[in-house]
Amino acid sequence: MADRIYNPNPELAKNAHCKSMEQYRSMHEKSIEYPEAFWGEIAKQFYWETPTSNDKFFSYNFDLNQGDIYIKWMEGATTNLSFNLLDKNVKCGNGDKIAFYWEGNDPDDYSKLTYKKLLQETCMFANVLKSKGVQKGDRVAIYMPMILELPVAMLACTRIGAVHSVVFGGYSSDSLAERMMDCKAKVLITADGVYRGEKLLLLKNICDDALAKVKAHGHEVESCVVVAHLRRLANPHGKTTAGDKKNGVNGTSNGGSSEPSVSWDDDRDCWWHEEMEEAEPSCYPVWVAAEDPLFILYTSGSTGKPKGVLHTTAGYLIYAATTFKYVFDYKPGDTYWCTADIGWITGHTYVVYGPLANCATSVIFEGTPFYPHNDRYWSVIDKYKVNQFYTAPTAIRSLMKFGDELVKKHDLSTLKVLGSVGEPINSEAWLWFYNHVGHGKCSIADTFWQTETGGHVITPLPGATPMKPGSATFPFFGVLPELLDEDGRVIEGEGEGYLVFRKPWPGMMRSLYGNHERFQTTYFDRFHGFYCTGDGAKRDADGYLWVTGRIDDMLNVSGHLMSTAEVESVLTEHQDVAESAVVSKPHPVKGQCLYCFVTPNEGRTFSKQLQDELKRKVREKIGPFAQPDVIQHAPGLPKTRSGKIMRRILRKIAIGDRNVGDVSTLADEGIVDVLFQLRPQA
Ligand code: PRX
Repeated sequence: MADRIYNPNPELAKNAHCKSMEQYRSMHEKSIEYPEAFWGEIAKQFYWETPTSNDKFFSYNFDLNQGDIYIKWMEGATTNLSFNLLDKNVKCGNGDKIAFYWEGNDPDDYSKLTYKKLLQETCMFANVLKSKGVQKGDRVAIYMPMILELPVAMLACTRIGAVHSVVFGGYSSDSLAERMMDCKAKVLITADGVYRGEKLLLLKNICDDALAKVKAHGHEVESCVVVAHLRRLANPHGKTTAGDKKNGVNGTSNGGSSEPSVSWDDDRDCWWHEEMEEAEPSCYPVWVAAEDPLFILYTSGSTGKPKGVLHTTAGYLIYAATTFKYVFDYKPGDTYWCTADIGWITGHTYVVYGPLANCATSVIFEGTPFYPHNDRYWSVIDKYKVNQFYTAPTAIRSLMKFGDELVKKHDLSTLKVLGSVGEPINSEAWLWFYNHVGHGKCSIADTFWQTETGGHVITPLPGATPMKPGSATFPFFGVLPELLDEDGRVIEGEGEGYLVFRKPWPGMMRSLYGNHERFQTTYFDRFHGFYCTGDGAKRDADGYLWVTGRIDDMLNVSGHLMSTAEVESVLTEHQDVAESAVVSKPHPVKGQCLYCFVTPNEGRTFSKQLQDELKRKVREKIGPFAQPDVIQHAPGLPKTRSGKIMRRILRKIAIGDRNVGDVSTLADEGIVDVLFQLRPQA
């Protein structure tokens, strides 16, 4: 089944932006051979206060032997992001079009925002930032829940050329402090708090802690702007009160009352709604250069110190816009929903910038898939008649556990394209998504990319690419992937190796904030002349690319290179298995051996028989060398709040080392003890 090829629905292909593999190949070829012509044509859709010239359109050095690494697109051009995303759309007659539907944690909380209103709110908040002394180039930290003020805050930064650094609202105060110190943030924007499911998170208190830590280290964040979010909820603290359901950013008028109590520093803190009352509704955009910084987004690094990935203006805009249009095949009138938190790159590019650059209508969802019931995703798709739905394999797998009945309760017939991102999707999850959510008629875009790449780099196009479950398929326009062996030799045809890129595309990162040296050594030193993703991939006989996982998750058993993802995919194919994670464990003879954590489906038991079946399956599917040494029961896995499995911790559990290090980024710290207790005795 998994080896079958799934062709795009002919109805979808007929009207798609890219209708066939022939069209894809010819566009890809043009994008590689004539990048100036290809991207120059796309750039014409946007407004440039100053144009670029053809000879300066694209320049780069990817080879450390030739000097420092640099990537420049559209040098000489000036523009403004918020102008292109808002003013331009309003001027084209789309002022009354919905930019965002907002769906709160509680189904009784919802609201919407038109392009006209989004522009006005953005201008007003840009004026608030100016009143706090924020100028072009200053860094603004944002630590917010998934509320409409979050995109407003980001766009307001772009209005005045300030650089935003959004920190995911689930990070601890230490992580927030570390990031604010690294980028020397001038202002912090947050909210009083947020409910995630039934759990209340008091964000402002976390900010207070973080601000104190920053101060203790000699840096001072001058202002903290706080959205009064909790007090405008329909059902705050479980009490039913009337919600504020007007159009626009909701609750800007009823905040400021007494509950819940929030600690306050009068010299530093202010309420968003109070500042907005005074703010002028228009703000002339600051024209910035094509390569001026747009945002910093921190991602974890192997050394433990987070890396401030820096993206710039013009290239990011055209790449976010183009990937969104082609990968989701977005058409005017469609409603699109990406479940990612804006605190991650997926939220930056595919909740905020890509959709707005296409004048799209999308859903922003504050809650979780499991609240108030385990069918929340399906009910939101039904409610807003969603056409494109973009989510993560981990979410799909956790929802699969509840069976198909919950999906069937809802009308999902509007769906055309399903997207997956964040990790390799195992064929079981792919097929469930395809058959039960997409009813066998939607294309699945398994989009491979990274915080660093800015947008999709390897992905199917829904109307063109015949799909293979689990394969991210082929490169997007402008992207030239290669597979390299251990010695840096290019692998032609079928094979497995390090996934690298030979040329820059417009949306890729330009540097690590304040540390160009680390940028060069992290990404360009391993293989000179290539950007190194840190992922492994294989190419099959048909040329399809299969991203197998981080190289650091690769393992070598008796000289056989294999990926943990490969083994996980086999384990999760078993009907009794909901999820699995595989790590390597040192082995005196084989070098490394496989240690597998397995979460059974609801109602299934973890038995000796299941362990034997799984071992046999791996032996059968991959080879006798891949037979796992240990299969351990895992009622849950240690995941970050964004759903990434922390393999570092699993490796410690595998070797019985209680010294697991920092667990503060885990969604559930308790699982670590449970897993230690369940370790099979040798
Ligand atoms: O290992 C790859 C995996 O996620 C990494 C990037 O993580 P991050 O920067 O947090 O960005 C996630 C959202 C873009 C990659 O190096 N990854 C992401 N998407 C896929 C994937 N692995 C396989 N298939 C994917 N579709």
